[in-house]
Amino acid sequence: MKHRPFSMIIGTGSAAPKKVLTNHDLEKMVDTSDQWIRERTGIERRHILEEGKSNSDLAKLAGLRALEDAGLTADELDCIIVATITPDLAFPSTATIVQAKMKAFNAAAFDISAACSGFLYGLTLADSMIASGLYRRILVIGSEVLSRMTDWEDRSTCVLFGDAAGAAVISASDGDRGVMSTYMKSDGRLGDLLHCPGGGTSFPASHETVDQRLHFVKMEGNKVFKHAVRTMVDAAVHGLRLANIASDQIDLLINHQANKRIIDAVAERLNLPNEKVFINLNEYGNTSAATIPLALDEAIRKGRLKTGELCLMVAFGGGFTWASALVKI
Ligand code: ACO
Repeated sequence: MKHRPFSMIIGTGSAAPKKVLTNHDLEKMVDTSDQWIRERTGIERRHILEEGKSNSDLAKLAGLRALEDAGLTADELDCIIVATITPDLAFPSTATIVQAKMKAFNAAAFDISAACSGFLYGLTLADSMIASGLYRRILVIGSEVLSRMTDWEDRSTCVLFGDAAGAAVISASDGDRGVMSTYMKSDGRLGDLLHCPGGGTSFPASHETVDQRLHFVKMEGNKVFKHAVRTMVDAAVHGLRLANIASDQIDLLINHQANKRIIDAVAERLNLPNEKVFINLNEYGNTSAATIPLALDEAIRKGRLKTGELCLMVAFGGGFTWASALVKI
């Protein structure tokens, strides 16, 4: 068997809408407080996509920025993978819409639905596709417009989510840098704890489903919290073991940005000090599949991650799904 790494990240990019919704803005919408949101989640603001724009607009922007960073043009892409639970349409895929908007006409394009783990599922797939020798340059995008699936009358969820996109271009490894391990897992028995029931074939859109508010995210927050910590530690431990790396060798942990208390609990169990943990959920909230590529792009741009350093990315989301990727940048 060929030894790792097969593939590496050669460019990153991200995009967030200009419009910002602060905790104080939310105080005027539901019975909540800036203090409650900060203490329970660490979130201060979130970005909201303007009317008339779609997920693919954000995804395209992040994708073009990642391409520019990689020094490639859109026609050099073999494949575009978009991880999202908030697609533009039921079909066709958001990835094909992004392909058209980016003019990446030499690529195959498809979506992945793995909620907040979607970007790492996509990265795992891209890594395997490049290892197969059949694909050379793959754009993986995590992009969400959760504001359109948020019940703005439900204080237990509406304070949590935001809109953003992040992207990475994956290409063959130079033999040293790249993806050292990937790990994916899921448990469909727990799906009801975090889901959006309406709009699919179980509950197609009707006046009744709208009246029952079935087209919004439903979450049993405190149950999800416990599983999030357990599964992300599981993903991190497996990812490290697969690459034969100890946690103290990690330069930066990029955790799915859902809740600062979850991130702190995962970091503590991995014995990682605060300076090795990247956090930007104060600015964006939980942007599901976008949190990891958005954080990765910011970490690189801010100099928190440099060439040759080891980054452990860990995610958890609805399904349940969980995943990790250990990457030498
Ligand atoms: N403002 C004020 N009070 C609130 C709010 C709010 N926005 N929301 C809930 N409360 C109240 C509750 O009603 C409850 O009141 P009670 O004690 O009188 O009954 C109290 O605060 C505590 O509620 P809990 O739900 O127990 O609060 P908890 O500490 O668990 O925090 C939270 C809630 C932030 C949602 C947390 O459980 C969490 O982060 N869960 C995990 C989220 C997550 O990781 N999601 C996964 C990914 S998302 C995806 O896949 C799309």
